[in-house]
Amino acid sequence: MATTKITVRNNGSVRIEGDFEIVDQEGNAFGLAGRTSVSLCRCGHSENKPFCDGSHRRVQFQSEIKAFDLPPVVAPKPASA
Ligand code: FES
Repeated sequence: MATTKITVRNNGSVRIEGDFEIVDQEGNAFGLAGRTSVSLCRCGHSENKPFCDGSHRRVQFQSEIKAFDLPPVVAPKPASA
């Protein structure tokens, strides 16, 4: 069983629970003050990105998600000589 669970919420955030770290593009970790779960903004309207601040409700963000399977990974083609 995975040690991290990511839940994509309908009309809202992405919830992360378990053992995880969130870093910026330079690899610097966000201080999570001991939290073992956080919600990340999916709607683009949070004033506290990357974290959700509830703004998705105000803007009536709509996105219903059902799990699906991604297509197989395609191996890169060998370089031609
Ligand atoms: S998903 Fe909650 S503020 Fe964007």
